[in-house]
Amino acid sequence: MKTILWIASLFTSVVLSKPKPRCRCLYGDSCWPTEEEFAQLQSKLSQPLIRPVLPESACYPESNPSGNCTDVQANTLDGRWRSDQAGSMQSTNFETFIFRNGTIEGCYLNATLGFPCQQGSVPPVGVDARRVEDVQVAVKFAADHDLLLVVRSTGHDYLGRSAAIGAFMIWTHHLKNITANSAFVPDGAPESGTYNTLTLQSGVQWFEAYDAAQENGRTIIGGLSAGGSVGAAGGWISGGGHSAFAPQHGLGIDNAIQITIVTTSGEHLTANSHINSDLFWAVRGGGGGTYSVLTSVTYRTHEITPLTAVIVASNFSLLAVKKDILTEHLKLWPGLSDAGWGSFLVLSNAVAISNTNLTLVLVVPNISWADTNATINPFFDFVRDAQPDTFATTIPFGGFYSCHVGGGKVSEIDPDSAGLNPAWRKAIVHMVVGSGWLSGSTVDQIRAVQQQLKDDLAILESLAPGGGAYFNEASLYEINPLHSLETIMNVWKGSRIRMTPWVFSSLQKE
Ligand SMILES: Cc1cc2nc3c(=O)[nH]c(=O)nc-3n(C[C@H](O)[C@H](O)[C@H](O)COP(=O)(O)OP(=O)(O)OC[C@H]3O[C@@H](n4cnc5c(N)ncnc54)[C@H](O)[C@@H]3O)c2cc1C
Ligand SMILES: *[C@@H]1O[C@H](CO)[C@@H](O)[C@H](O)[C@H]1NC(C)=O
Ligand SMILES: *[C@@H]1O[C@H](CO)[C@@H](O)[C@H](O)[C@H]1NC(C)=O
Ligand SMILES: *[C@@H]1O[C@H](CO)[C@@H](O)[C@H](O)[C@H]1NC(C)=O
Ligand SMILES: *[C@@H]1O[C@H](CO)[C@@H](O)[C@H](O)[C@H]1NC(C)=O
Ligand SMILES: *[C@@H]1O[C@H](CO)[C@@H](O)[C@H](O)[C@H]1NC(C)=O
Ligand SMILES: *[C@@H]1O[C@H](CO)[C@@H](O)[C@H](O)[C@H]1NC(C)=O
Ligand SMILES: *[C@@H]1O[C@H](CO)[C@@H](O)[C@H](O)[C@H]1NC(C)=O
Ligand SMILES: *[C@@H]1O[C@H](CO)[C@@H](O)[C@H](O)[C@H]1NC(C)=O
Repeated sequence: MKTILWIASLFTSVVLSKPKPRCRCLYGDSCWPTEEEFAQLQSKLSQPLIRPVLPESACYPESNPSGNCTDVQANTLDGRWRSDQAGSMQSTNFETFIFRNGTIEGCYLNATLGFPCQQGSVPPVGVDARRVEDVQVAVKFAADHDLLLVVRSTGHDYLGRSAAIGAFMIWTHHLKNITANSAFVPDGAPESGTYNTLTLQSGVQWFEAYDAAQENGRTIIGGLSAGGSVGAAGGWISGGGHSAFAPQHGLGIDNAIQITIVTTSGEHLTANSHINSDLFWAVRGGGGGTYSVLTSVTYRTHEITPLTAVIVASNFSLLAVKKDILTEHLKLWPGLSDAGWGSFLVLSNAVAISNTNLTLVLVVPNISWADTNATINPFFDFVRDAQPDTFATTIPFGGFYSCHVGGGKVSEIDPDSAGLNPAWRKAIVHMVVGSGWLSGSTVDQIRAVQQQLKDDLAILESLAPGGGAYFNEASLYEINPLHSLETIMNVWKGSRIRMTPWVFSSLQKE
């Protein structure tokens, strides 16, 4: 059963990546529901239907902007602000649509470029779900009318799956309930085992979940993004969900105790390891718009333990120095992740991204400051020898807001326990490679950037043969997508480096 479900999900993603418009009814087609049919839908919903627009449309027409363009310009790089706009994607390239003939439809923030402002890939109509019933009604409506259905929580998706041209949207952003329970018993489980949990509805974002955990004197294993804007119970968990705390406590899916879900037939089900366990298995790693719509996730919480942060930041004078330091750093990983250390590393050729061309933040759980120093000081000495002006320090901190994401606990969990790419259980490093292009670029210019990314990927592949990606941070331009999302253990050749390429547009960063 498990194998079949997984194969089915891969199949779906393959089909979606080669859309055949005749498969589903799209906006503009004669089969698109009439205004009367939408009015009937409206009568069953708790909120007015939404008509998402690209936020950048506020700046058009240039001579007489229809909205507050200053506001859009001021907030365009703010993840939380973007997640609040139904028609926004975090990476603006996913708001645009490139036709096969090279025409690009979208709406650039810079109106003086002289391009028209169009709807692009943003669904023109959707349901602002604030009750589980809203989700059920929306799913049934989409099924009855054979609409292309898109579930959007925050719009962070790296494959652009939270938008699709001419689709019908379910916006889960306002399903914000959070319930703490210090003695949660999963449905269908024997009463003897209880968990300290937080149940998050699918619109809850990490900043809200972290606040709730803190209010309850607990910690929760979550993702990292500026402002905590990634969704805590939508795409993140469906794809696996990594965290700097994963080496200590496991991935997001390993901490989920129970989910509730609206199936493709509109049924609202509870799933855990006791009931509907096949669905529970499948959505944890193979989900994200694949099987059904999550309405909530119940996560195990953990006691707060002291944390130490290790911070290394440098502007490397020479590429060779950067290489030496990275090599030395990667050598540390197997030992550190087995000890529960997690980290985030930002590396760039320019100083544009993190204000240095290498920033490394390690999170050291439940280990004394002195012991942390003893472990990391030899590395600090190495770095300072190589690049004397490097900033390198350790500091204890109380909260857990801050975040190598594999190894440790992640590797101890049965690879067959969830629909996740089992490669995760052998991985230590998860690497994201980004690239971008300017607003107004032609299709040929965009394809050249994508080709460069593919070439870079080939280099990474040669360094770590058999490495792969997973649903949340895979790329549209995977060299071999089936292989990258491979689930069969034996194709993963035991490499300890994993790669996840992605492409984003730097439309905002002109
Ligand atoms: C800035 C940034 C930082 C990130 N940091 C991390 C990190 O620290 N750890 C990590 O693991 N990943 C991280 N990611 C990747 C992230 O996990 C994925 O982009 C994930 O898909 C986002 O999920 P979302 O619900 O927030 O976004 P969305 O784009 O809204 O949704 C993503 C996918 O899930 C589907 N989906 C959303 N809600 C539901 C639902 N309720 N039911 C069913 N399907 C749903 C959507 O249809 C889409 O296919 C990051 C991404 C970005 C852009
Ligand atoms: C437009 O947005 C800016 C920046 O957010 C804000 O200061 C200003 O008050 C807004 N103007 C109007 C008319 O709402
Ligand atoms: C490209 O195709 C789109 C969609 O069919 C169409 O709207 C557009 O006019 C075409 N552009 C050119 C230059 O042919
Ligand atoms: C907008 O585009 C115009 C025309 O290419 C350019 O001169 C201007 O610098 C751009 N503005 C911004 C803010 O990037
Ligand atoms: C959210 O919580 C409130 C208060 O506990 C409750 O009234 C409401 O029904 C909940 N909503 C959903 C969709 O569970
Ligand atoms: C790196 O360079 C940037 C820009 O020149 C500067 O702001 C930053 O302080 C430098 N950082 C370090 C650690 O030297
Ligand atoms: C790092 O940034 C500094 C400051 O901008 C720059 O001089 C240096 O060439 C960069 N080094 C690398 C390896 O990219
Ligand atoms: C933290 O460390 C202490 C002392 O080593 C240990 O007793 C405790 O169980 C640890 N807590 C966690 C959550 O690992
Ligand atoms: C750990 O090292 C930092 C510098 O990296 C130093 O400031 C601090 O005093 C040390 N702490 C202990 C307990 O040794």
